Amino acid sequence: MDEFAPPAEPTSPEGVSLWEEGPPREPGAQRREGPPAPGQVRLTVRIRRYNPEVREDPWWDEFAVNMEPTDRLLDALHAVKWYQDGTLALRRSCAHGVCGSDAMLINGHNALACKVLVKDVVPKVTVEPIRGLNVLKDLIVDMEPFFEGYRKVLPYLINEDEPPNRERKQSPEERERYDDTTKCILCAACTTSCPIYWGDDGYIGPAAIVNAHRFIFDSRDQGGEERLKVLSEKSGVFRCRTTFNCSEACPRGIKVTKAIQEVKRAIMFDRL
Ligand code: SF4
Ligand code: F3S
Ligand code: FES
Repeated sequence: MDEFAPPAEPTSPEGVSLWEEGPPREPGAQRREGPPAPGQVRLTVRIRRYNPEVREDPWWDEFAVNMEPTDRLLDALHAVKWYQDGTLALRRSCAHGVCGSDAMLINGHNALACKVLVKDVVPKVTVEPIRGLNVLKDLIVDMEPFFEGYRKVLPYLINEDEPPNRERKQSPEERERYDDTTKCILCAACTTSCPIYWGDDGYIGPAAIVNAHRFIFDSRDQGGEERLKVLSEKSGVFRCRTTFNCSEACPRGIKVTKAIQEVKRAIMFDRL
């Protein structure tokens, strides 16, 4: 038997298919879009494609989809994938700006496809994979170097004291100190918009620094010195040239550059 053959369709004892009806998802599944219904808009989606199994070089594809103006760009990409070209590869999960998996370059700016409305990009939008990480297929990049930098800053609470019965207490002011950087969803929009990161394999990148900041300035944490040591290395915060692309790109509105500056100051003035 061909090991890559699709599985047999499951059926009930009465012989009725148990597969739910759904949009075609197989490569090559096609459905032409007619004219937009009243209230709908026609959006042309230009996508930078890459599939090393098909072609060595990337190429551009264009698709026209009929959407509601208040749909998200992610919905339009789904419409392409489900109804026009099942081979389109993209990452997404929550569809609500929380999981951070659908960061992409949209009209030249890093953003989450699920937070961009169709009405804001119609009639035509260009979508590319985020930069600075190797593209695996279409809009999917290899996130491993990004997470490698993240792991280096020990992104978890370090406290060697005996745990209290209930909780490690913290005042509202102490909590406020690092509130902004708790909002990170690890989407990589900041790191992959940073020109230093594009050009320097060694730079740990803004997202890792944001996540270090979140613990360095947490009054309950005792690992600040260790993290600052990592961030004072050649690959650390001093690679940053205060370009601000990262702050502009962050879909959570985190003041990324400010956080980087605070970490720089903590290293320079030994201030925790
Ligand atoms: Fe994404 Fe913002 Fe976190 Fe960077 S700081 S990874 S842009 S949420
Ligand atoms: Fe890069 Fe942001 Fe610094 S874009 S250079 S990490 S301010
Ligand atoms: Fe989760 Fe967009 S799909 S953030």
